[in-house]
Amino acid sequence: MPNMKPNKNTNSADSQRRVLITGVTRGLGRAMVDEFARLGHIIIGCGRNGKVIAELSASFGAPHHFAVIDVADDAMVRDWAARVIKSSGVPDLLLNNAALVNQNAPLWKVPVEEFNAVIDVNIKGTANVIRHFVPAMVDAGKGVIVNFSSGWGRSTNAEVAPYCATKWAIEGLTRALAQELPRGMAAVPLNPGIIDTDMLRISFGDAASSYSTPRKWAKQAVPFLLSIGPKDNGKPLTV
Ligand SMILES: NC(=O)c1ccc[n+]([C@@H]2O[C@H](COP(=O)([O-])OP(=O)(O)OC[C@H]3O[C@@H](n4cnc5c(N)ncnc54)[C@H](OP(=O)(O)O)[C@@H]3O)[C@@H](O)[C@H]2O)c1
Repeated sequence: MPNMKPNKNTNSADSQRRVLITGVTRGLGRAMVDEFARLGHIIIGCGRNGKVIAELSASFGAPHHFAVIDVADDAMVRDWAARVIKSSGVPDLLLNNAALVNQNAPLWKVPVEEFNAVIDVNIKGTANVIRHFVPAMVDAGKGVIVNFSSGWGRSTNAEVAPYCATKWAIEGLTRALAQELPRGMAAVPLNPGIIDTDMLRISFGDAASSYSTPRKWAKQAVPFLLSIGPKDNGKPLTV
């Protein structure tokens, strides 16, 4: 793997951001790690897969920070936030990216455990991360919170009702949060588009291969994410 340590020549201390990303072990999160690091930013990332988190820690090293965290576990997120803020500082850009999609099925056939897991990660997980990281951002008086939504947070489709419910919730939760933040900060729901990841394969099967790769998506998405600021507060955005 190439050396992904921050490129000190790319960013002055002023423009270097601390970027917190949930769900960095696969898909969009993993691709964003490479691209933010390539541009010289500092990554604070989490996911549940311990093997991939260990590989990320070994490849990227300090000042990046990767931890095995289940965002649905509020106490785990609370302890992680305390450690991160002490050792790495307050995030400048918080990306609530981690999520699950249900297996395609009519709502009445989705098992209760699966329905609960989608709600727990996509809605409660996002709220847990906000609960424990945003107070420090508010105290600092700056920072941008991007909650990953979906086309299915603004439209619907058969067989993804649990997922649609969570992404419509993300749209509402984020726009209400935007009304609570002090001037100088922003919270936005983001539809990332349609990208060939494990998640898309669950919903689209092999048809997922006709969509962009996460790596290609990240080249376009990361500069866009870095451009979001207070002027965008509360706006539903799309990459
Ligand atoms: N791909 C698309 O076309 C598309 C379209 C619209 C919206 N989105 C949204 O974009 C975001 C990323 O999607 P993706 O396609 O990259 O999904 P993905 O390939 O399935 O990756 C999801 C990531 O979230 C992590 N994750 C899941 N549950 C977690 C938990 N409880 N705690 C911590 N991490 C957790 C996974 O890691 P572990 O398994 O290691 O925990 C993985 O790294 C999601 O919010 C998704 O809804 C994607």
